Amino acid sequence: MARIIAGVTSSHVPAIGAAIDNHRTNEPYWQRVFEGFERSKEWIAKAKPDVVIGVYNDHASAFSVEVIPTFALGTAAEFPPADEGWGPRPVPVVQGHPELASHIAQSVILDEFDLTLCNKMEVDHGLTVPLNLMFGTPKEWPCPVIPLAVNVVQYPPPTGHRCFMLGKAIRKAVESYPEDLKVVIFGTGGMSHQISGQRAGLINSKFDHAFLDNLTKDPKKLTKLSHLELMREAGAEGVEMVMWLIMRGALDDKVDEVYRFYTVPASNTAVGHIILENKIKGGKKTSAKPASTKSASRGKKSAPKMKRAAARQKIERVRS
Ligand code: DHB
Ligand code: FE
Repeated sequence: MARIIAGVTSSHVPAIGAAIDNHRTNEPYWQRVFEGFERSKEWIAKAKPDVVIGVYNDHASAFSVEVIPTFALGTAAEFPPADEGWGPRPVPVVQGHPELASHIAQSVILDEFDLTLCNKMEVDHGLTVPLNLMFGTPKEWPCPVIPLAVNVVQYPPPTGHRCFMLGKAIRKAVESYPEDLKVVIFGTGGMSHQISGQRAGLINSKFDHAFLDNLTKDPKKLTKLSHLELMREAGAEGVEMVMWLIMRGALDDKVDEVYRFYTVPASNTAVGHIILENKIKGGKKTSAKPASTKSASRGKKSAPKMKRAAARQKIERVRS
């Protein structure tokens, strides 16, 4: 049986891709961003997913105002990088997994989610930048990736609640696939940012941190946020965060947060990143343990307090 072992969220700022492509990752401005993903690269190298499901949004690259699918699943064998105005990024062609993608399509559509199926599609920074952040810059991406493009560009995007429920349907689909595959699901975009208009440059770190906290502990609360609330608090493009709820819906109710990183800004955007692992019953965890863990509190603790402290130690939080 295939299973979803973990979920990853990450912002997908195009300037991060440009910094990689133009060899500027060692500049202090960018170093601060890339350093935050060093542990994540170690984690995913250890987790070794067989397949990644990459939830992202297309930014008028594969689609345009002429065609606006709400949920578009990539069922092709490969997905070349799109030309976003400066030529296609020099990144590997994304290899798909047509068998698992078709299986997900069948299961999810019969579960009454209307997907658009894409047997030919180019992928933009929404997908390629998170792949770089997690896998670095290899000659080939280390595993097949099934792209799931979500419309958050043209009103109306799907609600956070619908995204969360789609995540659950995707999980059901994956778990009914007979081959033993380890799947990691990415939710990309966000965090707070607004690219144009009077509030261009808006960043709301308080909201972002609360969103990250709730993503781990109380995602249902996030599904109740309206688009208007999301945009008022996190900027017009902050609405991209509904995609994170697809990732979260595909995981257990209770998850282990194994890593978190937050930094501002990268271009116009607050970069937020989290890794959540499903609790695997009777199985071996893939957790890339932090190199050092320090206890924040001193003195004697009661058993539940010790348990909570131990859980907190497992979470490596990096904030700058
Ligand atoms: C930026 C961020 C995005 O998510 C995006 O799609 C385009 C631009 C930015 O911060 O510049
Ligand atoms: Fe975006």
